[in-house]
Amino acid sequence: MTSLAGKSVLLIIGGGIAAYKTHELVRLLKTRGAAVRIILSKAAEQFVTPLSLASLSGEKVYTSLFSLTDEVEMGHIQLSRAADLLIVAPATADLMAKMANGLADDLASTALLATDKRVLIAPAMNVRMWQHPATQRNVEALRRDGVSLVGPDDGEMACGEFGPGRMAEPNEILAAIINLLKPRSQPLTGKKVVITAGPTREPIDPVRFISNHSSGKQGYAIAKAAVELGAETILISGPVSLPIPSGVQLMPVETAQEMLEICEGEMPADIAIFTAAVADWRVASEAPQKLKKTSGAAPSLTLTENPDILATISHGAKRPHVVVGFAAETGNVTEHAAQKLKKKGCDLIVANDVSAGSGVFGGERNTVHLVSAAGVEDWPQMSKDEVARKLMERLAQMLVPQNKAAE
Ligand code: CTP
Repeated sequence: MTSLAGKSVLLIIGGGIAAYKTHELVRLLKTRGAAVRIILSKAAEQFVTPLSLASLSGEKVYTSLFSLTDEVEMGHIQLSRAADLLIVAPATADLMAKMANGLADDLASTALLATDKRVLIAPAMNVRMWQHPATQRNVEALRRDGVSLVGPDDGEMACGEFGPGRMAEPNEILAAIINLLKPRSQPLTGKKVVITAGPTREPIDPVRFISNHSSGKQGYAIAKAAVELGAETILISGPVSLPIPSGVQLMPVETAQEMLEICEGEMPADIAIFTAAVADWRVASEAPQKLKKTSGAAPSLTLTENPDILATISHGAKRPHVVVGFAAETGNVTEHAAQKLKKKGCDLIVANDVSAGSGVFGGERNTVHLVSAAGVEDWPQMSKDEVARKLMERLAQMLVPQNKAAE
């Protein structure tokens, strides 16, 4: 039995004799663990009572658009957005006509117009009303708007006529609900994406360190975009002050050596994206105690080179299928990026100009150039979120031939 635990639906009951079947639908939804909120249209109140539905759903039933307390407790906008799915059952000819034309003159139609969620309707009406060109026009318009339909079924109606117009049975509606609430397969479903981000922090002594100005914004935006495409997303991040994007697995690190260690531990992966501004050098030997000022003599620091995380992973035995580097340059951007592409052995370098005045470090926008063996592709200036989305879509496409080969 498919569980609907954690899912929440808003059931909008229209005014038709089939409304009595919604009792069973609510019971089935509750058995599966779904939270069910209910709106009754004015006409529906003639067929079913708020009291019986409130007892079945265990929630307050909403009936009037202008109830002050409802607007305080939960406005119609919030009511329609808090749900994962809206269900209209029975969807009467009148309610469907309102939906198709964007009318909002009561709570039911207002919630339907205000929602940004998927909508499933279970039409129920007399066969002639269903077959009327006006209703069929509305059905077409609703389908074009992305509304899903279940039923109507053929059969004998309450009015004594026979034909299509009977509301689908509660079990059928439940199956359609389960189908719509199923997580949809996305381009990176089942794929693992590892991202490095932010600066690294290389200690001099217990209170001082070497670091850089990286804000981590581009890497965090990429992690968010990877989750949105369905990937298992690991974000290995140096110290930044950014919120953790929802669904991302954050692995906080400080030094380049820690970043490399965690990165290697996360291999194999399908895609690895190296956005971190790794400090190129660290102090050869970190002072165990805070360095003290001794008169006249400034300490001299001996630096040693940090491991190149991107090159190590890219040349390693567990190389991800797609490896992407970033190149922060202050001149000859694409030439330097092309050299890095070869030297570091990655499939793609996202090059950007970080020279003074470009506003990239810490800013919200980025102008990037994609450098690969195929050449250079210049992208117009975009927000870091847009760069992230476009980049992840491109990387998902780059994985496709490899997926085909594996089939
Ligand atoms: N990178 C890395 N590990 C390092 C240095 C860089 O993983 N120790 C990665 C960065 O995350 C980025 C790419 O390599 O994806 C290029 O970084 P960049 O700083 O532009 O290049 P560097 O190799 O440091 O070269 P240079 O500083 O000489 O330009």
